[in-house]
Amino acid sequence: MALHRLASITIGVPNVEETSAYYEEFGLSRDGAIFSTSDGGEQLRIVRSPSRRLIDLCIGADDPDDLGRVTERLTGLGVTVQPDTTSISAVEIHSGARAVIKVLPRISQDPAVMEPHNGPGRSDRQNARAPGLLRELPIRPRKLGHVVIGTPDAEASQRFFVDGVGFKVSDQVRGAAAFMRCSTDHHNLLLQPSPVAFLHHTSWQVEDVDEVGRGAMRMLEGHPERHVWGLGRHFIGSNFFWYLRDPAGNFSEYYSDMDTITDDQLWTPGTWEPSLRALYAWGPDVPPSMLEPEDLADLMAAAHQG
Ligand SMILES: [Fe+2]
Repeated sequence: MALHRLASITIGVPNVEETSAYYEEFGLSRDGAIFSTSDGGEQLRIVRSPSRRLIDLCIGADDPDDLGRVTERLTGLGVTVQPDTTSISAVEIHSGARAVIKVLPRISQDPAVMEPHNGPGRSDRQNARAPGLLRELPIRPRKLGHVVIGTPDAEASQRFFVDGVGFKVSDQVRGAAAFMRCSTDHHNLLLQPSPVAFLHHTSWQVEDVDEVGRGAMRMLEGHPERHVWGLGRHFIGSNFFWYLRDPAGNFSEYYSDMDTITDDQLWTPGTWEPSLRALYAWGPDVPPSMLEPEDLADLMAAAHQG
């Protein structure tokens, strides 16, 4: 049948314990080096590496035939594929990330409760405060949504993931970003050109915009240095966002209300020129660190040594 989900990722950081504590606080359940979401199960592994990076990403496929097709396409691109009993894997050499494609069950999510909203001439919620304001439970991301990486050869990396693995391009910003999906989410992987490979951010789905705001505000209590960018709404993908910085320098995003693409025939991929609109519909000014990592010089030095 097809690829159907971004199942999990492994990230490498120099400061494992500090970074692990951060993701626990972010709302993921921790079991040693493994972190889970409420709907997606085990979706993040944190291991040691000299500089921060995406080590692997695991993509769920429906059946063994899918693995055969991916193997054929990757081999056609000259990529070496490692077969395993229920999975195959291959390294994308420019980003350094290993793609693992594995036969896995599809994710099933209990639908978020549709809460009543008032609007002009329409009072669906009467004589009651907005439920989103009354929540007190800690934020628990529902699932991993997407991962964004910088790569020194974005075109070659895109060929690997699109022509090889089978991702579909949902939208592009010319010379700056390719938004790609392996599920019905608008994007599960985003590649951006960069002088050095690095992990830009991981993104985690929460219930709604109230949870985006509430989650970020909780993370900022006593830690204002974690703030990166938010609250805002992206134009490409439509999602509400708030980005925070983990202790290794990776960004982590709470998001809600992303576009879904359930019928390829009904979605027209767009190509935008690099512009602020391509980055967001509304929100605070884009911080320079979103466009270029503050530790770029360190990352390049590490890449040189590695
Ligand atoms: Fe994002």
